[in-house]
Amino acid sequence: MLKVSITSVKPKDVDATVLVSFLLEDTTYLSQPLQEINELLGNGVMKALNTEVFKGKLYTSFLIYTAGKIKPDYLLLVGLGPKQDLTSESFRIASAEAAQRVSSLGFQRYALFDSSLSGFDERKMVESVVEGAELALYSFNRYKSRSEKKSVEELILIVDQDWKAAQLKPVVEETQKVCEGVKWARDIANMPSSDMTPSLVLEEAKKVAEKFGLECVVLGLEEIKNLGMGGILNVSKGSKEEPKVVILRYRGGKADEKPIVLVGKGVTFDSGGISLKPSEKMEEMKYDKSGAAAVIGAIQSAADLHLPLNLVAIAPLVENLPSGSAYKPGDVIKHYGGKTSEVVNTDAEGRLILADVLAYAVEREKPQAIIDLATLTGACVVALGSQASGLFSNNEALLNKVKEAADVSGERVWPLPLWKEYFDQIKSEVADIKNSGGRSAGAITAAAFLSNFVNTTPWAHLDIAGTAYTPEDGTKVKPYTPKGATGVGVRLLINLLKRWTPLPT
Ligand code: BES
Ligand code: MN
Ligand code: ZN
Repeated sequence: MLKVSITSVKPKDVDATVLVSFLLEDTTYLSQPLQEINELLGNGVMKALNTEVFKGKLYTSFLIYTAGKIKPDYLLLVGLGPKQDLTSESFRIASAEAAQRVSSLGFQRYALFDSSLSGFDERKMVESVVEGAELALYSFNRYKSRSEKKSVEELILIVDQDWKAAQLKPVVEETQKVCEGVKWARDIANMPSSDMTPSLVLEEAKKVAEKFGLECVVLGLEEIKNLGMGGILNVSKGSKEEPKVVILRYRGGKADEKPIVLVGKGVTFDSGGISLKPSEKMEEMKYDKSGAAAVIGAIQSAADLHLPLNLVAIAPLVENLPSGSAYKPGDVIKHYGGKTSEVVNTDAEGRLILADVLAYAVEREKPQAIIDLATLTGACVVALGSQASGLFSNNEALLNKVKEAADVSGERVWPLPLWKEYFDQIKSEVADIKNSGGRSAGAITAAAFLSNFVNTTPWAHLDIAGTAYTPEDGTKVKPYTPKGATGVGVRLLINLLKRWTPLPT
């Protein structure tokens, strides 16, 4: 975790190697503290702005050596983009840009102030700046034998009034608690499948429970069998790794208040099974546990923030492999609660394991709402790419709440329909339903499959297949989601839970 402090010291006097200053695109007028620095630097800032080198565009920055004219050795101008486009996301990106620049320069301590004169809400700005820095500086180094260059340790946020520093300190602390959840989720998803098997994810979840005072219930192979969770049982049959279901509970609400259940797909590796995937990019299927990682990351942050809600996180954990004992196309599975499904493709395994826990959650928890996160379909990646998660819901109020939380957090979602005609695609001749509706509308038919297991409980499903990780050959990546797992969902869920109000009945 980054050491973050807030001070009202003058930017030119701050004790840091790099001083970062945010600027709007095409700035012509400098804020007072930056104007003062500009003068000390012999008009250095204005000169930069008057050439074509730096115009304040988002994703750009410009480094100036200060030659002892001010306390910091370097002044880093960072663009926020045009004023009319300014949102929390601009600050997240600009802050991430700054953090990465400081990191690649090899410095440990930097200070930051906003000289955009934009009047943007300071709490939101501080939140975004901390998120941008924390998440941009994340790296997964567990398997590097040589430790990389020294990492950035400290960020000093400069505000113009003493009282603001005091007022904004809790914002920093809360944001860091959320970022810890995101980084936890990234770590779990980034781990190779052989070192993060269902049992090992469970061990990590137990540590979380211990640390944050959560109740932890585990369903092992015997319980899974006895409860009739045929989806989980069958998908796991091809692997030597036993399946697990981990259930974490946080009680922050009134004793009689129904919980909100968060369900996350935890396929520690998805080879496709007998319906084997092509080998190209198959290594990415270690990220198929991202949904599980996100809901556990979210419940840990929610507990750390003491949110006044009752929450349950449930993750079915399996490995999907082909072998002589694997489940096969044509098999019929009986899920928790008795519904049956015909397996037409063993690679459509996510919905099979989620079906059991969704039905289980509805019956056992009688939740006020269920939200599931799953790297469910390649079709969703085709539809939305990495810019948004697919959103599905049987409840309009819940759908709108999720959309709002997504927009605020910058973890975008886009709604897709669940019209009844789509359900025809997954009708089965031999069972209640089949597990694949073919290529067309693949993300929708997968969601339609899931909806069969929630009845009328308000439910939202997020297909995070395109957003859960930034691939090696990822196109334009946001500086705060570097290559590998993004931890998507944690910040969205926390935003949703923070503003939670009971759904209209
Ligand atoms: N885990 C995959 C979906 C996925 C694809 C996640 C790409 C991340 C990136 C899922 O289990 C799967 O294989 N889905 C199939 C479903 C099909 C067989 C109906 C798919 O999308 O091809
Ligand atoms: Mn699959
Ligand atoms: Zn999968």
